[in-house]
Amino acid sequence: MVSALSEEIASSDQKVVVVHGGGSFGHVVAKQHGISSEAGAAPAAGVAQTRGAMYELNRLVCKTMMEFKLSPYPFSPFDAVSRAGGAAVSSWLKGLLKEGLTPVTFGDVGLAPGGFKVISGDVIVQELAKIMEPERCVFALDVDGVYEENTRVIIPELTPSKVKRMRVQNGDDATGGMKLKLDAASRIVAGGTKVCFVSGYRRNEFSKALKGLDFYGTVVRS
Ligand SMILES: Nc1ncnc2c1ncn2[C@@H]1O[C@H](COP(=O)(O)OP(=O)(O)O)[C@@H](O)[C@H]1O
Ligand SMILES: [Mg+2]
Repeated sequence: MVSALSEEIASSDQKVVVVHGGGSFGHVVAKQHGISSEAGAAPAAGVAQTRGAMYELNRLVCKTMMEFKLSPYPFSPFDAVSRAGGAAVSSWLKGLLKEGLTPVTFGDVGLAPGGFKVISGDVIVQELAKIMEPERCVFALDVDGVYEENTRVIIPELTPSKVKRMRVQNGDDATGGMKLKLDAASRIVAGGTKVCFVSGYRRNEFSKALKGLDFYGTVVRS
């Protein structure tokens, strides 16, 4: 999936910031050490191992991106946004984009009031959208889009008020599953950014979503 999507990003001529999740790397290790999206006490070794797993995954993602003609610029989300402030991070990222780099960040574990917590990629997308105000956010999923409740029927278009009325399962995802993505989407569209949910396994649909064309999946707008 990473190679196909990298190729599509490279050929799209769009300025893209990439956020990847923890997959089998981060979630599993975080869970083993009791680190969740709620800040709490965690052993230092567990924090180190979780973060290590994410950096390892990020390394693999960046390697693949480079094979497909992208120039990734990995950065740690928690440190960047919380320390420097939104405006500074935004102009820094825009500067990198202008130079032809593709900033890449990922789910992270960070020190918050009350202890350590996992910040999911979905929340990072939301924070980056708030500070960068992009035209679009594209979520590449392992499903074709957002399903109607208890079906496999894709909802072509959603609004925040429709999202509010939906009942979505949290599933066993460490940081909130589709519900979290939809909550993030609602906040993102409130800021004027369009949100696309598309299958990461359908590179053509992903490419269309990336370019702002019609695609097979779910669009969220206000
Ligand atoms: N209404 C829904 N529409 C689409 N997917 C849903 C829905 N409800 C639950 N899901 C599940 O949410 C999953 C995607 O969310 P998640 O597991 O959090 O992805 P990530 O890998 O980004 O953490 C899908 O694989 C799907 O099984
Ligand atoms: Mg998730």
